Amino acid sequence: MTGTLLAILLCLATLVFVAGLLYRVGVYTRTPAPLKIPTTPAPVNNGGVVLRMTREVVFFESLFKSNLWIWGLGWLFHASLALVLLRHLRYFTEPVWGWVAFIQPFGKYAGITMLLGVTGLWARRLFVERIRYISTPSDHLMLVLLAAIALSGLSMTFLAHTDVVAVKGFFLGLMNFSWQELPAGLVLYAHLLMVAVLLLIFPFSKLLHAPGVFFSPSRNQPDNPREKRHIAAWAKQLESEN
Ligand code: HEM
Repeated sequence: MTGTLLAILLCLATLVFVAGLLYRVGVYTRTPAPLKIPTTPAPVNNGGVVLRMTREVVFFESLFKSNLWIWGLGWLFHASLALVLLRHLRYFTEPVWGWVAFIQPFGKYAGITMLLGVTGLWARRLFVERIRYISTPSDHLMLVLLAAIALSGLSMTFLAHTDVVAVKGFFLGLMNFSWQELPAGLVLYAHLLMVAVLLLIFPFSKLLHAPGVFFSPSRNQPDNPREKRHIAAWAKQLESEN
């Protein structure tokens, strides 16, 4: 019964996540960028912008330059999260790809560093008065949710093991429309319930910074205002009408 409810919830949450994300990215794509405002010094051509964006997304370059300890915690959290999520691919693929098998031990311990990172980021919101003042309940909620997902995951990995083979059977079954039982376990239920909540709130929350970073005009524009006149599509249309 709980397995069925969780399955329905997870399917709904995935739908909301994918549709919501597509909708948001559509809105970002259509949002006018009327000004030429790359943060200088900036690359002067598109190849340079790709390099800059890659450094920003992979190493959080601008955060590194502005605040070393937030960068440390943020990077630790995100890099660990990436490893953890890649490790989870084993539940959704059969046979498991070679590189996914290879990263399993790294992903396992990345769960611990993910928890450390997110706890540090939360401590910053709780104990740095200036940051506490500007923090909203949702800022706290996201961090607590991520920490709780990590905690429940880690307790399955290191304390109260769950039947991961059966968990995989359940998810492969869902993907292939062939129902399999989800193994019972409060921690597993809690883990999956919180993952569903995360998927549901993602398209409506600050977590949208993940796709959003690619649409930041101060990062995605080349510094070439003399070589190429910057004109937004809607402005071009007005010009051609006159
Ligand atoms: C439907 C999606 C998911 C399923 C089926 C799932 C399932 C599991 C299972 C069964 C474990 C225990 C692994 C073991 O005993 O070795 C685990 C661990 C963990 N999960 Fe998830 N999980 C999901 C999504 C997520 C998400 C979205 C996050 C992070 C935001 C996450 C974070 C973790 C962490 C940190 C661990 C501990 C480290 C590890 O063993 O990888 N999980 N998960």
